Amino acid sequence: MQYNEKLNFLLVALLILVVPAIQAQKPVVHELSTSDKVKIETLLSTMTPDEKAGQLSLFLSGWDTTGPVLRADYLNLIKEGKAGAIFNAYTVDYVRKLQRMAVEESRLKIPLMFGYDVIHGHRTIFPIPIAQACSWDLTAIEKSERIAAVEATAEGLNWTFAPMVDISRDPRWGRVSEGAGEDTWLGCKIAAARVRGFQGDDLRANNTLMACAKHFAAYGAPQAGRDYNTVDMSMISLYEWYLPPYKACVDAGAGSVMASFNEIAGIPSTANKWLMTDLLRKEWGFDGFVVTDYASINELVNHGIAEDFKDAAWQALDAGVDMDMQGSTYLNHMPELLNEKKITPATIDHAVRLILEAKAKLGLFEDPYRYCNKSREKKEVMTADQLDFARHFVSQSCVLLKNPGQILPIPAKVKTIAIIGPLGDSRKEMLGSWSAAGSWEKCVSLFDGVKKMAGDKMEVILEKGCNINDYDKSGFDAAVRLAAKADYVILALGESCGMSGEAACRTSIGVPGVQNDLAEAIVKTGKPVAVVLFNGRPLALTKLASMPVAILETWFGGTEAGDGIADVLSGKVNPAGKLTMTFPRNEGQIPLFYNGKNTGRPLDPADTADEYVSRYLDCSNDPLFPFGYGLSYTRFSYSGLVTKVDDHNISIAVQVANTGDRDGEEVVQLYVRDKVGTVTRPVKELKGFQKVLIKKGETQAVSFNLPFDDLAFYHPDLKKYWDPGEFVVYVGTSSAETLSGSITVK
Ligand code: GLC
Repeated sequence: MQYNEKLNFLLVALLILVVPAIQAQKPVVHELSTSDKVKIETLLSTMTPDEKAGQLSLFLSGWDTTGPVLRADYLNLIKEGKAGAIFNAYTVDYVRKLQRMAVEESRLKIPLMFGYDVIHGHRTIFPIPIAQACSWDLTAIEKSERIAAVEATAEGLNWTFAPMVDISRDPRWGRVSEGAGEDTWLGCKIAAARVRGFQGDDLRANNTLMACAKHFAAYGAPQAGRDYNTVDMSMISLYEWYLPPYKACVDAGAGSVMASFNEIAGIPSTANKWLMTDLLRKEWGFDGFVVTDYASINELVNHGIAEDFKDAAWQALDAGVDMDMQGSTYLNHMPELLNEKKITPATIDHAVRLILEAKAKLGLFEDPYRYCNKSREKKEVMTADQLDFARHFVSQSCVLLKNPGQILPIPAKVKTIAIIGPLGDSRKEMLGSWSAAGSWEKCVSLFDGVKKMAGDKMEVILEKGCNINDYDKSGFDAAVRLAAKADYVILALGESCGMSGEAACRTSIGVPGVQNDLAEAIVKTGKPVAVVLFNGRPLALTKLASMPVAILETWFGGTEAGDGIADVLSGKVNPAGKLTMTFPRNEGQIPLFYNGKNTGRPLDPADTADEYVSRYLDCSNDPLFPFGYGLSYTRFSYSGLVTKVDDHNISIAVQVANTGDRDGEEVVQLYVRDKVGTVTRPVKELKGFQKVLIKKGETQAVSFNLPFDDLAFYHPDLKKYWDPGEFVVYVGTSSAETLSGSITVK
């Protein structure tokens, strides 16, 4: 063996040994120093009941035309040492002003924490979380949270109410925009990546944010897809499908958890001792603190589980909920509850200790002004690199749903592009919901991006055609006339950003208003049409998809939306996004998700004679676009699936060929079906993926290693383990297009 071969061999051997060790490293646990612990116990021994109640209270800061403002009574509470944290307060000057009151005017000088909903960026706004999930790029997702943390902490914040990790199988629910979609396994990977991105490896650093896993638990499963509605499911479903992403956050070291508004099987999370203490702390070992959602303790009265706010406060504190967001119930009632011996000093001290520990972990006792650094505020926000990454992330989050006749990418010979539709030159809508400190004025619209892409080679003309969500067709004629002048049309259609997010649910999830009719009128001109979709949830696209148009799903791309989308439209970027939530044909199919059960009477598409099977009279069982689906400008073909089972693992290999005329990335997906289980098992479950770049004309071997433990599932006794038996392995380009092979696991 030549010298350099030996060197290569050694290098490879080293990588094989070292890389898994790095990846397998346990999450960083933010240890408390002995001096921290002494300081905390000393404070606890001197705090009055009112001061303790104050530490458990989180108050809202507001903004008016002059900038950030805080209610006078809250300012007084800070000075009296009766506020634990403030949210929605940022900029260094403002945070410094409030922090100074806490640490220089109050009796015990306990610093405040500053929280905010940094959900998909702080100033640089990234694609909404469900869009990010469609990139299947965990590194990019983690990096976006790292950047968000740098920007948010540069403006005084040290706590974010994120990641939202609620699994949801119901696109009527507006908050699917904030999550990772319907799959639990992928949801767990993304949850952990987000926590790592926010918290880094040292919460004391002045550029890391304390994460908050929300909304605990199962907030994404409201009946009828209506926000805040009742959640009621079996314990096996709760454990198998909805709880794991919160646990992934806890295992990744998340410093806090947010209680959800909803009840689960009759007990609202905010008063649910089994959830907040037995499961979260005793079973999972969570050592951070629990904050409520907005006034969710007060809402226990609406739920009909508490007689009044005092009773509600008692139930929440007793359940293990540590901080009251905006409800003032602890502040107003805890001292009474203590006097009446309804609650013990130990229970109160346990909650206050967790809040003080969080402040110690953030380094706030060492330096309360750690996050108040004017030079960082100037230098580290919306830098060129951060914006470049945002643009890249937009293009990675786009999903090509249809491309008949290779309408996309836009041919170079095109001379005039007409952008038609209510979202064509919108900047406001690009931010999506929960856009933190992002400013829409700094967003790049589709029109902006396409004009930049066109340069002086193409003319770009614009017409709205109709509004997003009304029935006025008076703009159609002008739009049709404009299309007639162009040799290529981009239709900018979809929802407003306010049609998804909190309290934004829809019973009808089609493209709103008369946009489908506008599309039909434009298609009649015979011009090539590419639809660019802007939406915060899966839409029922049956009508649009029946037209001979290309469809590019772009969600809400944030600050760099227009540039990132233009990179895909021009072919500079070959789209590789894959859906992480099923697009149903219509609302009647909901809930519809890829990992459903076979039932005792499965529909066999080949045997349509058999009518007594699980089917509809008026619609197929299949989605319009399935989980894991997304096209490319090139084509990939799968062959040679090989599986091998040894004592502890299943190894899977497949050949993926790029048979098209351009390089492209492909998300190769691995699914497994457990043919016979102690409980009924899904027809398939995602167990792995690899996003690989394959050059045109080349073939790549892609392999997976699947430990038997990854086949484990919850049994009726709620213990998680795998059963030996027959399994089917699927590998493919989507959950509906795979090669398969059977294996036996003994
Ligand atoms: C809202 C949301 C929650 C958010 C909180 C603070 O009601 O449910 O996600 O973090 O209030 O804004």
